[in-house]
Amino acid sequence: MSTNSTAKTRPLVWLVTGCTSGFGRLFVPAILARGDRVIATARDIESLPEISNTKDVFLLQLDVTDSQESLYAKAATAIERFGEVNVLVNNAGYVLSGVWEEVSHEQVVDQFRTNFFGHMNVTRAFLPNMRSRRSGTVVFMSSIAGWLGVAAGGPYSASKFALEGAVESLQKEVCTLGIRVHLIVLGQFRTSILDDNRRKISRPNPAVDDYNSAVNTLALRQVDTNGKQPGNPTLAVERILDAVRREGMMATREEIPLRIVLGSDAGQIVRAQCLETLQQLDKLQEIGRSTDFLDARGIQDYK
Ligand SMILES: NC(=O)c1ccc[n+]([C@@H]2O[C@H](COP(=O)([O-])OP(=O)(O)OC[C@H]3O[C@@H](n4cnc5c(N)ncnc54)[C@H](OP(=O)(O)O)[C@@H]3O)[C@@H](O)[C@H]2O)c1
Repeated sequence: MSTNSTAKTRPLVWLVTGCTSGFGRLFVPAILARGDRVIATARDIESLPEISNTKDVFLLQLDVTDSQESLYAKAATAIERFGEVNVLVNNAGYVLSGVWEEVSHEQVVDQFRTNFFGHMNVTRAFLPNMRSRRSGTVVFMSSIAGWLGVAAGGPYSASKFALEGAVESLQKEVCTLGIRVHLIVLGQFRTSILDDNRRKISRPNPAVDDYNSAVNTLALRQVDTNGKQPGNPTLAVERILDAVRREGMMATREEIPLRIVLGSDAGQIVRAQCLETLQQLDKLQEIGRSTDFLDARGIQDYK
């Protein structure tokens, strides 16, 4: 993997999706404070009153659910403004909760259109330019929900699990082309994501009583957690900037891995999931091996 693709000696041009709130909003001043330039994007750029176009800031309307054709056009406009985009931050997202039986196909597709296809399509629009320059960094805002499914948390978890898998492949596709890729596995951070007007819970009328407990438990937890999340998003943004620019706490790291797990809650969950997976593997190892062909040893590893 190229390690000098985003050398810190010159200002970098960042493009961040979903800048009206939370992490996206915090990225803009943090990027400028490092001496870099930023293309701040939002579905509605009128919702960015504190940000205006300057020599280092460019406001661009961008809905990540737009068509691929439109996203290619947005990428061309973005690249034209400062001559290049060095760092793409796929940040836009929202939380849809609901149990399998009650959440509709259309609602889940909408969740994926933003949290999964949105990231994939926006990235696809920028890859040709990064590839031709053999340089660039693509950041994806993932989640502990992409490691652990909770009851009634399926739609959001599914979108983040899908993202984790697809980005793992992307990293292997572009690591020899000078393009760095990072998944930021976030714990619970104090943004607006759990505000009543942002998170969505799917409950039909009438609802299935059998699921009252699962749905109400998650909904109550979201309400209780909102505003008390352990993670400080300002500090998370600083660590992401450190990683991309290889500065601060990341300055002396030889290799920065694909996954950057932020938040002590996230660290605990990822660790527990790894341990539980190992335990489950060990319990059924013999059975797992029992289905191989006899000539399986000669076949190339899957990686
Ligand atoms: N906060 C956490 O605890 C946490 C944990 C794990 C992962 N994450 C991830 O971090 C990312 C940012 O979340 P946040 O906590 O900053 O939430 P937030 O405060 O709710 O901000 C979400 C942003 O995404 C934007 N957005 C939603 N749909 C969009 C679309 N179709 N096109 C463009 N922008 C869109 C929103 O814009 P509008 O104002 O137009 O709606 C808003 O600017 C998300 O991907 C989320 O899944 C957050």
